Amino acid sequence: MALRLGDIAPDFTAETTEGNINWHEYLGDGWGVLFSHPADYTPVCTTELGMAAKLKAEFEKRNVKMAAVSVDPLEDHKGWINDINETQGCTVNYPIIADPDKTVATAYDMIHPNADDKATVRSVFVIGPDKKLKLSITYPASTGRNFNEILRVIDSLQLTAKHKVATPVNWQDGEDCIVVPALSDEEAEKLFTKGIRKIKPYLRYTPQPNK
Ligand code: BEZ
Repeated sequence: MALRLGDIAPDFTAETTEGNINWHEYLGDGWGVLFSHPADYTPVCTTELGMAAKLKAEFEKRNVKMAAVSVDPLEDHKGWINDINETQGCTVNYPIIADPDKTVATAYDMIHPNADDKATVRSVFVIGPDKKLKLSITYPASTGRNFNEILRVIDSLQLTAKHKVATPVNWQDGEDCIVVPALSDEEAEKLFTKGIRKIKPYLRYTPQPNK
């Protein structure tokens, strides 16, 4: 069955380009992003894994560890990294999981047979420090992902885990947030000392509380 938000992200042990890892141990007390790609030595995937490498410092700033995965064997991953580094001007510096027996792909429901019965689709899973699934997004093979969007969502997930706010459409870190409907006006005014802007009883903004 497909993984749902709030489910424990399945643990696994796998060979990767950075040695064998146990997924939950690798994540430790931090956040994780697991993203699958359809196949090594393909153009869109080359650009995606290059961008992930260039943004690694941004993920680290947020205490997020990354790993990529496909059903290709370890030797293919290792050879392809040279092409990614050469063509994308980066150094791939996170593990790429080799999953030829589809253990990870099956556990995370990354193979969608009506799209392709052999390769993983472009899945993204964000996992919290409690090992629970916080976000999943699925893209088709033909569409490369936007890794800045993944960082943006992580900013929202980390903020809303700690503060009684939600984030509105197209929100970026530093912008005004929405007061959660469960708080009364009185409670919100006490909690958010920078003030409340009330547009409708259910639509109330406050400056980002942790800035
Ligand atoms: C790509 O990464 O370019 C790709 C992979 C599988 C199917 C189509 C495109």
